[in-house]
Amino acid sequence: MRVAGKAFRTIWPAGGDASIHIIDQTRLPHEFEILSIHTVSEAAHAIKEMQVRGAPLIGVTAAYGLALAMRAEPSDANLNAASALLAAARPTAVNLQWAIASMRGHLLALPPSERAGAGFAHAGAIAEQDVGLCQAIGAHGLPLIRAASARKQGRTVDILTHCNAGWLATVDWGTATAPIYMAHDEGIALHVWVDETRPRNQGASLTAWELGQHGVPHTIIVDNAGGHLMQHGEVDLVIVGTDRTTASGDVCNKIGTYLKALAAHDNGVPFYVAAPSPSIDFSIQDGIAEVPIETRSPKEITHIPGLAASGRIETVGLTPAGSAALNYAFDITPARLVTGFITERGVIAASRDALAKAFPERVGKGSSWKTPAAE
Ligand code: MRU
Repeated sequence: MRVAGKAFRTIWPAGGDASIHIIDQTRLPHEFEILSIHTVSEAAHAIKEMQVRGAPLIGVTAAYGLALAMRAEPSDANLNAASALLAAARPTAVNLQWAIASMRGHLLALPPSERAGAGFAHAGAIAEQDVGLCQAIGAHGLPLIRAASARKQGRTVDILTHCNAGWLATVDWGTATAPIYMAHDEGIALHVWVDETRPRNQGASLTAWELGQHGVPHTIIVDNAGGHLMQHGEVDLVIVGTDRTTASGDVCNKIGTYLKALAAHDNGVPFYVAAPSPSIDFSIQDGIAEVPIETRSPKEITHIPGLAASGRIETVGLTPAGSAALNYAFDITPARLVTGFITERGVIAASRDALAKAFPERVGKGSSWKTPAAE
């Protein structure tokens, strides 16, 4: 997608495969800064500290992290250590384990002498695959927006989204945003309600920024406003992303997604989840019982960064010094609240049978990797 008119991806190899470049998402929307990552430790740090974030991009960063590790020392022991380091960086998005498993399957079949070059090539293939998956999600989601536009006889289609499931969360296009960008590009009148998404404000700082860069009309709302807008007929459809969807169609996504799904259900608003297949974990069924939910630092609740009058990014406190804060980063939306999954293979009902029929090769097969100690 474009930044100030110039095409960018969120991650790319640089320096003759000696490093990778990322956009530091902790600086957006105030500063557009590109960082160089030279080692697997730096890649793990970038994931943990959310310089890169979003399920698909976390996976691609881990893939490049393993490539960097193989460049440094292509032994099995180093591959195992690097895999464990990356897998521990964030627990919820299954794409991280999926990408590690894919890289390991590829690299372990090769002699160490071939692993450095092959690692970068395979990480690049995973990145390209992500772009293709998002484009396919866009193509399959676009008719949903076209249909809403036709129902409204060309009046503006209002779409609500939560967190950032945009191109910044992937390599390009985004998942939830791909149909939005495609519909906007073909001239459909649309407008996006952007949930600010406390505590880290991925909606207010990232989704709003990238929609603005592409010229998509949007309005930032506080997280609690979605239900009110739905009651007043101001939302035609909801499209969100997912960090891990179970085989039965339960959706783990950014905290607050569940409440949007409840409000959508109560108001008869279609609630779609854009789900590339690497975000589907066919090894688990029950989202509430089985998805590991990340808890992050309470400081993300008690403090907030922003652009100060000085022109610098500064962090200020929000809450009484003695008050505790608890920071769950994700929640589960049960399949019964999901109208459908927009996948690379089409729009699929939120049920075990429909998911199994669409992805028969994945059924009953784990595609993720866990550190041996965690097994
Ligand atoms: O904590 P984050 O910013 O990594 O959470 C991101 C989300 O919850 C996204 O909605 C999800 O990863 C889907 S991204 C296409």
